[in-house]
Amino acid sequence: MCGIIGYIGKRQAKKVLLDSLAKLEYRGYDSAGIAVLNKESHVVITKSIGKVANLEVMCTDADATEEIEDAGCGIGHTRWATHGGVTNTNAHPHQQGRIVLIHNGIIENFRELIVKFHLENQLVSETDTEVAAAIFNYYYEQTNNPEETIQKTIHELQGTFAFGILFADHKDCVYAIRNVSPIVVMHGEGESVLASDIMALAPFGNRYFVLPEYHILKMKKDTVSLMDLQGNMCEPDYLTIDWDVNQADKQGYPFFMEKEIMEQPDAMRRTILPRIKEGMIDLTVDGIPDSLFEGMDHICVIGCGTAMHAGLVAKHLIQQGLKIPVDVIIASEFIYEEPLITDKTLVIAISQSGETIDTLAAVRLAAKYTKRVLAIVNVVGSTITRESNYVMYTNAGTEIAVASTKAYTVQLCALYLLFGKLATIKKCYNYAKQREFVLQICDIIKDVEKILQDKETIHRLTQKLVQAKDTFYIGRGLDHSLILEGSLKLKEVSYIHAEAYSAGELKHGTIALITEETPVIAVMTQKKVKAKTKSNAMEVRARGASVLLLVAGELEDEADWDTVYHLPEREDIFMTFSTSVTMQLIAYYTALDKGLDVDKPRNLAKVVTVE
Ligand code: M6R
Repeated sequence: MCGIIGYIGKRQAKKVLLDSLAKLEYRGYDSAGIAVLNKESHVVITKSIGKVANLEVMCTDADATEEIEDAGCGIGHTRWATHGGVTNTNAHPHQQGRIVLIHNGIIENFRELIVKFHLENQLVSETDTEVAAAIFNYYYEQTNNPEETIQKTIHELQGTFAFGILFADHKDCVYAIRNVSPIVVMHGEGESVLASDIMALAPFGNRYFVLPEYHILKMKKDTVSLMDLQGNMCEPDYLTIDWDVNQADKQGYPFFMEKEIMEQPDAMRRTILPRIKEGMIDLTVDGIPDSLFEGMDHICVIGCGTAMHAGLVAKHLIQQGLKIPVDVIIASEFIYEEPLITDKTLVIAISQSGETIDTLAAVRLAAKYTKRVLAIVNVVGSTITRESNYVMYTNAGTEIAVASTKAYTVQLCALYLLFGKLATIKKCYNYAKQREFVLQICDIIKDVEKILQDKETIHRLTQKLVQAKDTFYIGRGLDHSLILEGSLKLKEVSYIHAEAYSAGELKHGTIALITEETPVIAVMTQKKVKAKTKSNAMEVRARGASVLLLVAGELEDEADWDTVYHLPEREDIFMTFSTSVTMQLIAYYTALDKGLDVDKPRNLAKVVTVE
């Protein structure tokens, strides 16, 4: 997590850094800071705990402004705390001697380094980053050469890092180097800029490159250069941003989360329609040949959080529908599990950001066993896409709110298309059946639109939740996969403890927690298990819980229930979309009515780049 930015050029560095940090804030918002090198070659560091807005206030303070007004070179950081609490001292940038450092990642051997370099009395913060700054400074004192300093320091470090480095006596340069944690770079007329993600680069043009791992970046106003650790100069591999990164605007909605929920029908169209040709699913647009699935006997889905929940839906579809064994493994567990992957396994890595470090590590491990690694990712050009054999982009557009909504829905769309394609290849679907499947998948967009039009009704359903401390979501089968995501949404944005429980399992212990103060959301969209889930809902109602039923189809005893919400009815496997969007709205309105910062829930960050 953490966002980093570095700038050198014709614009005012302070403004560039603050504007860019606001765009990177979703990566962490425990504290923010900038360091600029002013014309007198003075390093001026300004930092503040809390959000970037606090830092902006500090930077507009008259005294501060005077000192940094004319600077055209600087680095900035927005922090998600790992080593050391949320304090001003722990906020980046960190200075040791002539070195000023920002860092995204974790230096795992920082304790050993403190001992090795006798840093005990030299450090003021509790961070691993300051240890790295001290080692950079140690070598700079010896060499007086930035490149040599970086080479020597990097050999000492274990862990992940994206560093932006200022050498106080080099006011015309910003340096950077990375391992795993991302850095992208843009160079235009009279300016160069680096950042953790392309969104921060939007004002500077549309050609960028990804800084290769273990390469020293030297940015000047008029040039950028790359050198590997052996001292060889390299050419950057430029890419063009071909999607709209200027979506970072709430367009009248109070929060990005609501805007992104409302954008779902369009995002679904962008993901589904380019992959339909003459009424059939066609993945050639992704460069995915049918041969990818030939001889495949097992699917392993990896991801974290919401992305992993999308994988659970895919498991349900593919394993039950096509009888292909599917494992869904939390990426952070995968790498320690000795997973059963062979060259016949299709590994599907799901990620919105394409940068989640656990998912990336899992992709790297999987790639040792199979050449069938398929990434389903939203962010174009992200690390996971570059390291996978195949990529299906989910065209959600930029997702800013920490809570994933539209990214999840389009992950589902991609997975449904994959399911439909596999069903045909495995001859489970004939031509007519696939066409029918395609019609349905296009039609579900209308269901989502219906739900969105009904958002005020859904808002009213949340009245009891707003007061609750604990709540349960119950469901069976496919509904169980959906409630895992529904409950995660509620937890992360409203801070209400929400457990998703297999409805039939409740009475084996957990029902002891049900009281009048525990609202229950029962999801009943699957015909096969509807009656059973309803019985379980009756069991919690009998213990005093107020129950909100999200239901597909008729309910004979509707009058007996507190609150019932009818979802647009459709064949069971297609109930997923309207149900999950309804639960997104429930979470959103609950958090909104609690007066919380919905887009930036406490303790979280949008991109999780630490293990
Ligand atoms: O970028 P990714 O999809 O790889 O992120 C994985 C999770 O961190 C993410 O899905 C997280 O659970 C959601 N933001 C929660 O809404």
